[in-house]
Amino acid sequence: MELEKGVQRWVVDISKWNPSPDYFSSVMSFLPQHEHSSITMFVKMEDRKRALVSRLLQYALVHQVLGIPFDEIIIRRTDEGKPYLEYVNKTCALPNFNFNTSHDGNFVAIASEPVCLVGLDIVNYSIPVKESVEEFIQNFSSYFSSLEWTDITKSDSPYDKLNRFYRYWCLKEAFVKATGVGMGKRLDNVEFHHSCWNDIFVTVDGKEFKNWRFWLLELGENHLVSIARGHPATATTSYKRTLKQTEFGEKEYRLGLNLPSVDFIFRMVEDLLPVSVLAGHYSTDI
Ligand SMILES: CC(C)(COP(=O)(O)OP(=O)(O)OC[C@H]1O[C@@H](n2cnc3c(N)ncnc32)[C@H](O)[C@@H]1OP(=O)(O)O)[C@@H](O)C(=O)NCCC(=O)NCCS
Repeated sequence: MELEKGVQRWVVDISKWNPSPDYFSSVMSFLPQHEHSSITMFVKMEDRKRALVSRLLQYALVHQVLGIPFDEIIIRRTDEGKPYLEYVNKTCALPNFNFNTSHDGNFVAIASEPVCLVGLDIVNYSIPVKESVEEFIQNFSSYFSSLEWTDITKSDSPYDKLNRFYRYWCLKEAFVKATGVGMGKRLDNVEFHHSCWNDIFVTVDGKEFKNWRFWLLELGENHLVSIARGHPATATTSYKRTLKQTEFGEKEYRLGLNLPSVDFIFRMVEDLLPVSVLAGHYSTDI
């Protein structure tokens, strides 16, 4: 299996999906029982939809890329909460097949990589209503380095300030999510650099992480998405345990790092199901 097959980017626009309660339950029933409470614990339907689609994307992607039947896929979470595939077949040709999901606003997305770690973050931003942009972003100033903060606040335009703020935010989230770190990590020492948001790189405590690549894209109105691709040796101890290979020779690692990224493919919820659900009738397609 070629490494390229492991590079996937899928997104679902959940604002276009308005299932009846019965249909929602029938879609949820395709997931293992242990995933259900993490969906139904939400009160608001929008949050339930995000949680359901996030999980469905994970099972559907594993099914499509690795060919594992839905009901044989085992997805667990690290102590920090990052989902991972528990490999059944140790001979899989994609050494570190891993994925990460994110959801905010209208979108739920997943990205996967065959060699490098992948982190994904979606940000849905809006102009604050109860305070000025300056007051709003000031609440989060401790997350940014002084260089980033200068770049965020240099514009006279509040919208430009907010946009820069969320771009850095999105990149930082994708980076920490790739490593598997959950809440509470210090982030002012994680400093992003860019030229007009291209050639993005990161320094941690002033040292450049050369073995990483970043992408930052617009995903519909007021939505940003960032993807981080990086070295498995940087993962948390618990996430490293889920990977097959964390040490690479320079040439071998470059193969994974330099794989072409791909565009996001828009999927419908129905595209993710293992069977077709038509007007309440099920027909098996696998
Ligand atoms: C999970 C976390 C890493 C991101 O949460 P978030 O941005 O609110 O949510 P996202 O929608 O981007 O991602 C949630 C998904 O990430 C995945 N996830 C959960 N824990 C994770 C972790 N430790 N690492 C990577 N991915 C994780 C899950 O799939 C989760 O969705 P699901 O539970 O519905 O399956 C959270 O711990 C967090 O908010 N950390 C804060 C980091 C911070 O300080 N950021 C400031 C940036 S300047």
